[in-house]
Amino acid sequence: MPVLVAYASKHGATRGIAERIAVKLTDEDHPADARSVQEASGLEGYDAFVIGSATYGFHWMDEALAFVKLNSAVLARHPVWLFSSGPLGNEARDAKGQDLRTATVPKEISELQEVVQARGHRVFFGALDPDTLGFAERALRKLPAARAGLPEGDFRDWAEIDAWAGDIAHELARPPAS
Ligand SMILES: Cc1cc2nc3c(=O)[nH]c(=O)nc-3n(C[C@H](O)[C@H](O)[C@H](O)COP(=O)(O)O)c2cc1C
Repeated sequence: MPVLVAYASKHGATRGIAERIAVKLTDEDHPADARSVQEASGLEGYDAFVIGSATYGFHWMDEALAFVKLNSAVLARHPVWLFSSGPLGNEARDAKGQDLRTATVPKEISELQEVVQARGHRVFFGALDPDTLGFAERALRKLPAARAGLPEGDFRDWAEIDAWAGDIAHELARPPAS
């Protein structure tokens, strides 16, 4: 069952997650391609889709939203999973004690899940390398309100990402309910 892992990534962290998911799916006998949403075409050749975006300002990136909108009819006829790469840091909870994976779910996720009838959505911790940031992002990071939430480092949990891709592989291998 060929799978497309389509991603929107500004600085590469989400691309890395998408590539890892594609490798794991391929290892589990579901040949998968990781492509940026701008490069992804020929959707007819795929039987399932994993779509992910980096989260900026509590939203998916515009190109990821456009990809889902443009291809919603095809996507809705196939198994689809969504993921977001966002929170940073080594703590699972923010200063108010909220679970970071829950607190950072992008605002449009429930609507997207409905549009494509997604089988699931997962938030993964991301990565931030200050050297890759543009001027405005560096300035924003210096604001007291943002500083604590945007620490430098690579917080991607590869074991968690592999496990999720493994779950998807198992679900794809399951015979359809009659
Ligand atoms: C300016 C800026 C704003 C961000 N806003 C959010 C946010 O609202 N929610 C979140 O979970 N992560 C946020 N992040 C963290 C990024 O989503 C995280 O670094 C992500 O892994 C980046 O993915 P990319 O390298 O693929 O672009 C922000 C990062 C930056 C630099």
